[in-house]
Amino acid sequence: RPIRAGSYTDELVQTAKSIASPGRGILAVDESNATCGKRLASIGMENTEENRQAYRQLLLTTPGLGAYISGAILFEETLYQSSTDGKKFVDCLLHEKIMPGIKVDKGLVPLPGSNNESWCQGLDGLASRCAEYYKQGARFAKWRTVVSIPSGPSALAVKEAAWGLARYAAIAQDNGLVPIVEPEILLDGDHSIERTLQVAEKVWAEVFFYLAENNVVFEGILLKPSMVTPGAEHKEKASPETIAKYTLKMLNRRVPPAVPGIMFLSGGQSEVEATLNLNAMNQGPNPWHVSFSYARALQNTVLKTWQGRPENIGAAQKALLVRANANSLAQLGRYSE
Ligand code: 13P
Repeated sequence: RPIRAGSYTDELVQTAKSIASPGRGILAVDESNATCGKRLASIGMENTEENRQAYRQLLLTTPGLGAYISGAILFEETLYQSSTDGKKFVDCLLHEKIMPGIKVDKGLVPLPGSNNESWCQGLDGLASRCAEYYKQGARFAKWRTVVSIPSGPSALAVKEAAWGLARYAAIAQDNGLVPIVEPEILLDGDHSIERTLQVAEKVWAEVFFYLAENNVVFEGILLKPSMVTPGAEHKEKASPETIAKYTLKMLNRRVPPAVPGIMFLSGGQSEVEATLNLNAMNQGPNPWHVSFSYARALQNTVLKTWQGRPENIGAAQKALLVRANANSLAQLGRYSE
C-alpha cells in the first residue's frame, strides 16, 4: 500500500481513473481574473465579475458536455460561484458527471539569480486551502509552473519548478485532491524539436525524482505536459506524426506506467492542430490514457461565436461541443478532418 495520502489513497486513485476515462478529457476554465479579462477584451467585453460569470455559465452549462469532458478546472472565483438562476457551478458540472477541479497555484514571479526566469508561488497555506476546496466539491487540483527554453533553462529554474510541483502534489494528495502536475515548457523560441525533447527529458526526470522523494502516489496524479514541438519561431513546422513521435518518446522514457493519465495543454496551438496532434498520439497503444486539458484550443471559437450576446449562447455551446467531440475522437485515435 502506498505510504502517503492516508485515508484518501483509494479515492485519489478512483478520481484519477474517472478523469482519465476513454474518450474524455479536461476543459480548462481556470484563467485568472486578469487572463479571463484578456479573453473578454478580445470580444470587446469589460472584465467584471458579472461578465466572467456569464462566460463561465455558457461553458459549464453546455448540455451534453459530459459525453466528452470528464473534468473542468476552475479558478477560485468560479468554484464558489452560481449560475444566474442560482445553481452552483459545481452542481452543474456534477449533473453532467464532470469532476470539478481547482487551480491552486498563486502565479509566477521572477526568480532572482536565474536567466530572467520565474518560479511559481502558492505553497504557503496550501494545505488549508486544499481542504476548503475539497469541502466545496473540488476533487482535483492544478499547479502550473513554466520553463522557458530560450532563457536557458537554468539548473536552478528546473530544480525549483520540479521541487515546487512535488511539494504541491504531496499536499494536494494529503487533502483528497488529485494533483495535475504541469511544468509547462513554453513554445516561444526558434529552437529545434530535438532541443525541446532534451529540455523536456531533463524537466520530467527531475519532476519524477522529487515526486518520488515526496512519497507522492503515482496512481493518484495526472500530468499536464506540453507536446514536444519545435519552438514557435523555428523555421520548419513539424507534422502531427513527428510531434507524436517525439512526445511519446519523451513520455515513454520518463513517465512510469503507474500514472493513469497524460492530459496535454494546448499552449497556443490552433484548435485543429491541437486535435490532430492528440489524434496522432493515439494511433497505437500507450501505457497511460493520452488526452487533453485544453483552454484556448477548446474556447477560441466559442468566444468568437458568443460575442457576449445572449442570443448567441446556443451557437457558442454548439461550437464547444464540436471541439470537445473532435478531441474526444482524437483521444480514441479516430479523428479525421
Ligand atoms: P492552454 O490549453 O490554452 O494552453 O491552457 C491550458 C492551461 O490550463 C494552461 O495552464
